[in-house]
Amino acid sequence: MPLLGLGTWKSDTGEIYEAIRESIRIGFRHIDCAAIYANEKEIGQALHDAVEEGDVTREELWITSKLWNNSHKKEQVMLPLQKTLNDLQLDYLDLYLIHWPVVLKEGIGFPASGADFYTLDDVPTVETWQAMEACVDAQKTRHIGVSNFSIKKIDTLLQTARIAPEMNQVEMHPLLAQNKLVAYCQSQGIPLTAYSPLGSPDRAAIIKQENEPSLLEHPVIKEIANTHGCSTAQILIAWAMDRGISVIPKSVNSGRLRQNYDAQNISLTREDKERISSMDRHYRYVVGAFWAMEGSGYTVEELWDGL
Ligand code: A2P
Repeated sequence: MPLLGLGTWKSDTGEIYEAIRESIRIGFRHIDCAAIYANEKEIGQALHDAVEEGDVTREELWITSKLWNNSHKKEQVMLPLQKTLNDLQLDYLDLYLIHWPVVLKEGIGFPASGADFYTLDDVPTVETWQAMEACVDAQKTRHIGVSNFSIKKIDTLLQTARIAPEMNQVEMHPLLAQNKLVAYCQSQGIPLTAYSPLGSPDRAAIIKQENEPSLLEHPVIKEIANTHGCSTAQILIAWAMDRGISVIPKSVNSGRLRQNYDAQNISLTREDKERISSMDRHYRYVVGAFWAMEGSGYTVEELWDGL
């Protein structure tokens, strides 16, 4: 899997088609999708046209997508995967992830009340995982993994998994370096992907906290960017890649796509990395509070298991 990928969360229909075409022309080969982003159809059209017009072959691409929380029961998993494949106009995915360790009732996109949830006792993740394994057997996806999983939850999966998870995609950036989780996943041979590597400034106001710190404007990152003569976004991307972690900055702008791709050419010095390490303060932009509504059976603390 190419370490650098294109994120597509928050990329609107009407703009994502051209962003995908442009990213492939620039050289991106890894695209991170999810059914809940509600843009897979348009991405599929762009992938189809890029292959048809000879910009790239299917084999050169790495396409990830994710199972939404409302289809975690064993018999439910294959259907949304097939819908994703149809939307993306693909025969197989490279990687399919369980999006969250949270279960919603059938047909619920986003919950309106606690009654919209199943607990992890009702629908254990190991059950969902068995269905994910069946997706590999059916050759609908080459690899399977998880997203937003704690050490404890991965540990539980590993106890019964026939196929060990091959990815954990989590929020990660200098304010949330996730050193414990990185050490654990690396000890288990599980690669990681960093989402929201730029701090996701384009999230809807309703899921933002007050006075969020800005990564793109952070004084330490700015100073390091100045010494390299590059942008702060490029430093943030280079930092993840230097740790051997896949990173999926989202952009729908051709200049910024090019900039993000070129971040692969930046080498951080030991001093840069020490300065960036000192920024870690376990700050999450995506807290997951939307899963902890009253009566849901979930709490933010249990979601991350103290991580
Ligand atoms: P845009 O899509 O207009 O380029 P994240 O990947 O952390 O979710 O952050 C995505 C946000 O960062 C989007 O608002 C995106 O805007 C912006 N962004 C992406 N690349 C850059 C860049 N190189 N410089 C500044 N902002 C960027």
